[in-house]
Amino acid sequence: MPSSQPTGAPVAPSLREGKSPEPVREILWGTSTGVRKYETAEELPSEMRKLVVKLMVVQADTEFASIQQHRPWLDNAPTLEDRWIEARIVADEARHGLQACRILREFGEEGQGMIDDLLTKREGEHKLDAFNMKFDRWSDVGAFTCLVDRVGVYQLRAFQECSYGPLARAMPLMLSEEQLHLNFGASVLRRMVQDGSKYYGSREEAEAAVRKWYPRALDMFGHSNSETSRKAIEFGLKRWTNEEARQRFITEVRTLCKAIDLELPPEEFDRHVL
Ligand SMILES: [Fe+2]
Ligand SMILES: [Fe+2]
Repeated sequence: MPSSQPTGAPVAPSLREGKSPEPVREILWGTSTGVRKYETAEELPSEMRKLVVKLMVVQADTEFASIQQHRPWLDNAPTLEDRWIEARIVADEARHGLQACRILREFGEEGQGMIDDLLTKREGEHKLDAFNMKFDRWSDVGAFTCLVDRVGVYQLRAFQECSYGPLARAMPLMLSEEQLHLNFGASVLRRMVQDGSKYYGSREEAEAAVRKWYPRALDMFGHSNSETSRKAIEFGLKRWTNEEARQRFITEVRTLCKAIDLELPPEEFDRHVL
């Protein structure tokens, strides 16, 4: 149907006839709204350049760290299907790490130096606490992918359509892959609660794992009054402040845990980053 004859349903400006997405080329929020997106590392203003590098280093570090955490479960997950999904998650996280490093490579020697350093990091040396903790039990795998990967999705969604074109374009595929991880995590927890010994583990184990990972997931959003998060919005890099993203996450996880009938600790429980 020609676009001059709307059917009544509003059509998003970024969708063409035929519904194929048209790349958005202009900056959508922040102090440079309406100006064309930055497309190369060279044209970024110096403060923004530093911030993109910093954000990509943290991003890549979490991807590589989670491979180390998942590794023991590649051949220890309870079922054949669980092992296959573990293998897929590891492959996806490796691709996400590569993707973040490709963006870092655009920053020449400085970026390459960061990549070399990232590749030396071992368990216990990563930037965020959640990525320095081991998956001691299968319930850890469930709670981590359900909660920590879900925070990862919020971070990626905050970059969606951001002002740095190469980063914005990396988001759709990463987001669709992450969706598998967090759905898998929720289903592991649900099976533990509802099927108990018929599957693997128990409600008690699932709840203990949620108490272990939920506070670390909430911490991952960063400090509520973070100057970096304010700047990231100003530069059009991130959509939400740390606190806005954290509150959205809390609402989503509460609903999810209620549906699984899983007890969630209060937000203040065992927190390190406020
Ligand atoms: Fe990832
Ligand atoms: Fe993931």
